[in-house]
Amino acid sequence: MQAGQGGSLRAANGWRGRTVALGLCALLGGCGEEAGPQAPAGAAQAVPADAALAQLYGASCRQCHANPAAGAPLTGDAVAWAPRLAKGMDALLEHSINGFQGMPPMGLCMQCTEAEFQALIEFMSATSKPAEDL
Ligand code: HEC
Repeated sequence: MQAGQGGSLRAANGWRGRTVALGLCALLGGCGEEAGPQAPAGAAQAVPADAALAQLYGASCRQCHANPAAGAPLTGDAVAWAPRLAKGMDALLEHSINGFQGMPPMGLCMQCTEAEFQALIEFMSATSKPAEDL
């Protein structure tokens, strides 16, 4: 009865376990910061918890926003996203839909709705909870 999550999860596979843990943290509204994983490496692994959103993300945003070479603010990199978020969600939605410098119109997600763009932005900027100043 002590097949605790601790042992198996931790031992098994760093990345997968870590991604799950991050997802849980987001859902539960915060865990302690432990053993801080670094953003750049995490960006390649992070996926939205919502399956539909995860699919949209994987088919579009992820190709650039999890790729340091693309010049896009990386998923989960709160520091890179801070100045973007400071423009306000309206501006970010506008730029997602119409394009912004290296960011292509619709982020290559032609079927994404505005609500989905917002959810994707919140996911990537690691603010997927009631955002500070919407
Ligand atoms: C082809 C590569 C590419 C794809 C695909 C892509 N982005 Fe981007 N995105 C970029 C780059 C590059 C930037 C940085 C633009 C700059 O500031 O010069 C960017 C910036 C942004 C910004 C910040 C805009 C601002 O005003 O600062 C948002 C928001 C954004 N992307 C959302 C998305 C979303 C949502 C998706 C998926 C639906 C997506 N992107 C897909 C390349 C991409």
